[in-house]
Amino acid sequence: MMAIKTVNALSHYTDWTIGHVHAGALGWVAMISIGSLYHLIPKVFGREQMASVSLINSHFWLATIGTVLYIASMWVNGITQGLMWRAVNDDGTLTYSFVEALEASHPGFVIRVAGGAIFLLGMFLMAWNTWLTVRAAKPAEYDAEALIPAEVAH
Ligand code: HEM
Ligand code: HEM
Repeated sequence: MMAIKTVNALSHYTDWTIGHVHAGALGWVAMISIGSLYHLIPKVFGREQMASVSLINSHFWLATIGTVLYIASMWVNGITQGLMWRAVNDDGTLTYSFVEALEASHPGFVIRVAGGAIFLLGMFLMAWNTWLTVRAAKPAEYDAEALIPAEVAH
């Protein structure tokens, strides 16, 4: 959408871009990194899988809901800001001051904080699950896993 000239004329410099960035940052970069860690952590500590699969599922939904709140609130803010900055009176003066557009963005910022907090909560679940997984690992098991080449061990 933002690569379309007429859309970008409205979205550029607004929170729309910030929403887009975090669609990539949270929905792609963070989710892929977190998923790969859930695969790797048990391997490193010689366990079958993470201590709790249902905690992983909860983390997935917290991350998804947090990301959606972040992105949706920034879309609304971006369109609001773009329209308010562009509005002009009949005599050519601006209808809204910058601060008025900022005030109109406040509810979106509050929703972004909530989305960020929900996303962060998911990261705490991951830290706890990692702790449970590592604590359950026996040093002898992961020493053996590290020393024996994969072809021999499995
Ligand atoms: C088909 C996919 C994508 C398209 C067409 C696209 C298009 C765009 C466009 C047009 C802008 C400039 C917006 C502006 O300044 O007005 C932009 C900015 C940006 N995009 Fe994307 N994007 C895509 C995917 C992604 C992904 C997957 C990520 C991250 C993983 C990403 C990260 C960013 C960032 C960080 C910026 C802001 C750059 C800056 O101003 O510093 N984009 N994108
Ligand atoms: C829930 C977690 C996160 C929150 C609450 C958050 C919040 C923010 C905020 C408030 C800004 C400034 C936006 C502005 O200029 O108005 C920002 C910018 C940015 N963040 Fe995040 N962030 C989070 C996670 C991430 C992650 C995981 C990445 C990368 C993988 C990332 C990449 C960026 C980038 C590239 C910018 C600059 C955007 C631009 O100016 O075009 N963020 N973030």
